[in-house]
Amino acid sequence: MSLVEEVLREQQGKAGPFSDKDIGTTMLAPGYRVDLRNPQGRELDKFIKANQVSDWSILTWREVGKPYQVNMMSRDRKAWEKEHQQEMPLKTSWAYFNRHFHQWFVKDVPEELQKTRQEVKTYLSRFKVKQVVQALGDVMRLSLWNYVHRVEDAIWDPRGKRALFEGLDVQKPRILFLGAAEGYEAMQLYAMYPGGEVVLVDYDEFCKTDRFGQFPETYPFLGTNPATGSPKVWYKHEMNIEYLVEDIRNLPFGKEFDIVISVGLLEHFPDEYKPMVLEWHRQFLKPGGYALMTTPRDQVRSRLFYMIMADVMNHTYRELMTIRQMGLYVYEGGFNILRHGFIKAHNGIVAQPR
Ligand SMILES: C[S@@+](CC[C@H](N)C(=O)[O-])C[C@H]1O[C@@H](n2cnc3c(N)ncnc32)[C@H](O)[C@@H]1O
Repeated sequence: MSLVEEVLREQQGKAGPFSDKDIGTTMLAPGYRVDLRNPQGRELDKFIKANQVSDWSILTWREVGKPYQVNMMSRDRKAWEKEHQQEMPLKTSWAYFNRHFHQWFVKDVPEELQKTRQEVKTYLSRFKVKQVVQALGDVMRLSLWNYVHRVEDAIWDPRGKRALFEGLDVQKPRILFLGAAEGYEAMQLYAMYPGGEVVLVDYDEFCKTDRFGQFPETYPFLGTNPATGSPKVWYKHEMNIEYLVEDIRNLPFGKEFDIVISVGLLEHFPDEYKPMVLEWHRQFLKPGGYALMTTPRDQVRSRLFYMIMADVMNHTYRELMTIRQMGLYVYEGGFNILRHGFIKAHNGIVAQPR
């Protein structure tokens, strides 16, 4: 174990292991990357390859084609459907997804990799072929997770997200996160635009209790010091966050939020439901407010990821899109697109109702 990992491990549970003097650094913790590198302005721009389309009104579906559908479902979903002789209900599929996905965020990845590699050797020496194959699959998935989430930081992607969220004209915003899961992006937004309020909404209670509840108190978000305007490290416990376990369709709010955000929501709805999902983003926005949306990119490596991690990720309907496809949905849903581009694993859009 590296010195950094030992220090981090020692500090687990104590809030705030990083301070402003760590800004500019990055390091690998056992379960994730700490990234306090702080490019700004043009430098930050390189984390979002933006603006492929100058006029959305002349783009057509003929030109951009339809999204790629991920068809390989998890074993759990197939087993459930066989047992119940019906399609898995949507809410159940989210419950499965959240429980599976969460298990990967709480892993000590280097330790598990070492343990699983040892298992391969042990089973090999005993000629236990079935167990060798199983353990090799585990090594492959762990190695992929290590690369994608921990080394490349392509899931949380703080620098890409900051590049996408930069430059919003808001002060102490009220932020609504639809389908919030662990709430990562709203915490990043709060750090960049502090002093307001975050409302996280997810109808799966496990997201409040475990995914958000167990999100590491020691994870540092790079944001702004409202007193000085200079960079500052923020932690979850310093933020004003409320978690609502509720269906998005039953929310008690009017047009009262400065920012409405979703991350990985639109692609879970076939075309006939997408206008409804886009309406969810509009209906809670104040005049002049911003809708922020991201969806997974359609690229070979993403298709491979969802194939190899099918048992973890694929419990629900899912599409992979290009930024032009995503933008066309958002434009046709009645938004002006202010900023669009792709970050590591996702497309990102900043939009305002037309
Ligand atoms: C794919 S997840 C979002 C991706 C997230 N960033 C993650 O890491 O898992 C979508 C979330 O939306 C929630 N969700 C889906 N439909 C919902 C609805 N109608 N009301 C409230 N939450 C919903 C699901 O429970 C799930 O946690």
